[in-house]
Amino acid sequence: MAGVLLDRVEKTYPGGFNAVKGISFAVPDGGFCVLVGPSGCGKSTLLRMIAGLETITGGQVRIGERVVNDIEPMGRDIAMVFQNYALYPHMSVYDNMAYGLRNLKTPEPEILSRVQEAAKILELNDEMLKRKPRQLSGGQRQRVAMGRAIVRKPAVFLFDEPLSNLDAKLRVQMRIEIRKLQRRLKTTSIYVTHDQLEAMTLADMLVVMNAGRVEQVGAPLELYERPATAFVAGFLGSPPMNFLNGRVEKPGVLRLGDGTELAYDPAHFTATSGAEIQAGVRPERIIFSKDGSGIPFKLELVEELGLGQLVHGVLADASFTVALPAGVHAPVGDAQRVTIAPDAVHLFDRKTGARL
Ligand SMILES: Nc1ncnc2c1ncn2[C@@H]1O[C@H](COP(=O)(O)OP(=O)(O)OP(=O)(O)O)[C@@H](O)[C@H]1O
Ligand SMILES: [Mg+2]
Repeated sequence: MAGVLLDRVEKTYPGGFNAVKGISFAVPDGGFCVLVGPSGCGKSTLLRMIAGLETITGGQVRIGERVVNDIEPMGRDIAMVFQNYALYPHMSVYDNMAYGLRNLKTPEPEILSRVQEAAKILELNDEMLKRKPRQLSGGQRQRVAMGRAIVRKPAVFLFDEPLSNLDAKLRVQMRIEIRKLQRRLKTTSIYVTHDQLEAMTLADMLVVMNAGRVEQVGAPLELYERPATAFVAGFLGSPPMNFLNGRVEKPGVLRLGDGTELAYDPAHFTATSGAEIQAGVRPERIIFSKDGSGIPFKLELVEELGLGQLVHGVLADASFTVALPAGVHAPVGDAQRVTIAPDAVHLFDRKTGARL
């Protein structure tokens, strides 16, 4: 068992492209850390540097007490699970799971007992162990790939989008299985995904990345409720946060683009009068007013989700979405008004995107 420490880790690819720009964070022993961010932000590059599959061009990676920058992947005490499973097609499932251990010259009886133990945890029966990977379903193949990591009993699991080849339903099921498995084995894990929902549900520590840098690190709910930047605010949550441009008129009062007034809680923000801001409001924090008060909202489309409704429209000249829980229905007619509680309003600097 071991924690993982990244200290100003950099990656400049041979062509000169700077894909990772000085990233530092620490994953505690036994923690489940999820790296999330848009395509191309450097997640796989960072994970591959931790794995030893990519050279580190600056900074340090520590696994447990050791700096591993110059240690071969095999010597790092890690096991990686990839998106494409990377199973050997000509080998049986058993041999696929045994492969890494055989490379380490583990005695066969020990291999047998470890593969059987992993197969039991992953619910792969003896008959499946004899099959070739192509004779398994996608979800079963993914389990084999996990099994191959488990049998190694590594200090750290590294996952790179392991569920993205599965259909939506299986993804949810496997996501839950991975989380349960990690709770049971208590192996430090670093998991890469671009899916914010997967990230929110799996992580006890979330690292949001953008263009080779870290935007914010913290517990999922902490980031959801107190995003440090407009990027994090917009990235986490589905449907995403609504954004409105405006100016601080005086502490506690915003003037939006079309002249609409919006109140915020001045105790939580240090915005000065005149500041150009971006206000953020989560779709689930908005209610339709019944008494004619509130801010005008032009209703354009209602989406029925079963679990609730999404109401799309325009507020203060911006596209705006309201999420209603099950049992609450959107009002009829396009001219509506909504109320937004002051404590539902987040303020970000319009230029830098930083929380004010
Ligand atoms: N071998 C390479 N040489 C040069 N540039 C590379 C190389 N590999 C990746 N990159 C670039 O580095 C950046 C980060 O790539 P990376 O694969 O880490 O992104 P990612 O966050 O994993 O994205 P995705 O979600 O699409 O998998 C990208 O702009 C990519 O084009
Ligand atoms: Mg990637």
